[in-house]
Amino acid sequence: MKIWQKNTGSSKEIEQFTIGKDTEFDILLAPYDVLGSLAHLKMLAKINLISNEELEALSKELKVIYQEIKDGKFQIQEGVEDVHSQIEFLLTERLGEMGKKIHSGRSRNDQVLVDLKLYYRDKIKEIVEASQQLFSLLMQLAEKHKGDLMPGYTHTQLAMPSSFGLWFSSFAESLSEDMDMLYATFQIVNKNPLGSAAGYGSSFPLDRAYTTELLGFEDMHHNVINAQNSRGKTEKTIAFALSGLGGTLNKLAADICLFMNQHFAFISFPDEFTTGSSIMPHKKNPDVFELVRAKSNQLNSVPNTVILNGTNLTTGYHRDLQLLKEAIFPGIQNTLDCLNISYYMLREINVKQNLLEDEKYQHLFSVEEVNRLVKSGISFRDAYKQVGIAIEEGDFKASTHLEHTHEGSLGNLCLDEITAKMEAKLKRFDFSKIESSKEGLLG
Ligand code: ARG
Repeated sequence: MKIWQKNTGSSKEIEQFTIGKDTEFDILLAPYDVLGSLAHLKMLAKINLISNEELEALSKELKVIYQEIKDGKFQIQEGVEDVHSQIEFLLTERLGEMGKKIHSGRSRNDQVLVDLKLYYRDKIKEIVEASQQLFSLLMQLAEKHKGDLMPGYTHTQLAMPSSFGLWFSSFAESLSEDMDMLYATFQIVNKNPLGSAAGYGSSFPLDRAYTTELLGFEDMHHNVINAQNSRGKTEKTIAFALSGLGGTLNKLAADICLFMNQHFAFISFPDEFTTGSSIMPHKKNPDVFELVRAKSNQLNSVPNTVILNGTNLTTGYHRDLQLLKEAIFPGIQNTLDCLNISYYMLREINVKQNLLEDEKYQHLFSVEEVNRLVKSGISFRDAYKQVGIAIEEGDFKASTHLEHTHEGSLGNLCLDEITAKMEAKLKRFDFSKIESSKEGLLG
């Protein structure tokens, strides 16, 4: 029985096709559906559409359901269309007539929207925290290894001296920039759609400012049509933020796979952090970072999927929007998994010392030699030519240049500036209302 069912039900085939995989994702929305419902009920009581006794009884039962969800005892029963219907069914089953009152002034369209916004808000907080954790570790590694030189590459060819300090902190600063996109996303997510109902509001005098406050949203979508149309737009901004983070993690993972290769052997991990082969007994493979590389590439497909999913949709709700969950929910999980496993792995990274003392890296210092000649008064172009000819004739020796590399960008990694920048970016995210609104509604 559907909540919208009158005399005729729909066929099994229609039911299976329209629900598809949706209930798998809807389960994750269950706690948020309860929170949204608690706020909606309080508002209904405030505008006298339900009595205080009804508010009390319905809220009490919703809190029981919230606990059942937290204890893993909640499920969407066979034949029930979605999480929203399941919770309404439970209320009606347990409280009778009263349960049927909760949906006044509400549609599943604004109900799913508010659930999603609350869910995304929590997930953005988790992503920010995981990014912060990885950032701090990268900065510690950069500090620890700021004097450990390594080759720098362009075109994957030896280029100039670099250092592990510079390399680690490049990903830290990149993460801090990913926070900009995430913050823009957070602002779009953190707006209340509840009260937009099916997308055209209600003739009841719904107090939307009140539910905005109760749910700890920073603002609301004032225009009810725009509130509906925010579905898809919200997911698009999340997708771009995830793909930004994916770009940072992908480059880190790709570098690590290369640097673990025996011809490079710049870094290593304890054996238990690598994987073996079923036939080759010597293997210690970088499977973790290969998977981070692939999963972070998958994140780049999320914006595409989300955009195509919503292309040419006219104003108002469309069932197409349901499928956004299939792209964005796994994308969020992938991002968190990649951030967390990268942190877990990097805590154990070993870095090879004195790498650049090896003869094979001497050409990395060609620019150092040019710079030395420039300092003695020769023009850059003439010095360049002189060093180039010495290299061609096999006369170039780099050993004397090691100490000079620590002037300039290798010596000044700007770690304090990078940390300060990250701190300022993190401060903009105000997550304080997330917990206080949950406590207010559940307490
Ligand atoms: N599962 C649906 C979705 O995610 C819930 C909203 C259904 N609304 C409707 N009018 N059919 O979009």
